Amino acid sequence: MALQLGDTVPDFTQDSQLGPINLYDFAGDSWVVLFSHPADYTPVCTTELGEVSRLRPEWEKRNVKTIALSVDSAESHKGWISDINDIQQTSVDYPILADADKKVSDLYGMIHPNSLNNLTVRSVFIIDPNKKLRLQITYPASTGRNFQEILRVIDSLQLTDYHQVATPVNWKDGEDCVVVPSIPTEEARAKFPKGVTEVRPYLRFTPQPNK
Ligand code: BEZ
Repeated sequence: MALQLGDTVPDFTQDSQLGPINLYDFAGDSWVVLFSHPADYTPVCTTELGEVSRLRPEWEKRNVKTIALSVDSAESHKGWISDINDIQQTSVDYPILADADKKVSDLYGMIHPNSLNNLTVRSVFIIDPNKKLRLQITYPASTGRNFQEILRVIDSLQLTDYHQVATPVNWKDGEDCVVVPSIPTEEARAKFPKGVTEVRPYLRFTPQPNK
């Protein structure tokens, strides 16, 4: 059965350009963004992997580790990484899994044969420190992902976990948040000293607690 939100993600050990990677050991107490791409030496993927590398300070700020995956070999990854670094003035230092036997792709349902035969589509999995799946998105091969959106979701998930607020439509870091429904308004007023605005009993806003 396909992975669903809230599931404990399956562990694996797979080769990469950095040697074998065990997911759980690699993750430790961090959040993980695991993302697949169709193939090495392809244009859209080249831009994506460079961008993920350039965003390293943003991942670190949020305690996130990134892992990419395609069904190419570790040797192919090494050659391609030189190109990415050269073209995009960066240094890709996160693992790119070499899933030639499709072990991880099959485990995580990253191959969608009616869209792209035998290659992985652009899957994204956000995994929390308890190894629970918190988000999955699937993009087609021809559309490069917006990693600012992935960062935005991580910010939202961490606000919910650490501060018990949710985030409304089009929310951006620094904007007002929504008090989760499980907290009664009077309790919310005590919990959120910056104030609670009650629009309806079920719709309460508060300034972002960690700003
Ligand atoms: C790309 O990364 O550019 C790409 C890969 C597979 C299909 C289409 C585009």
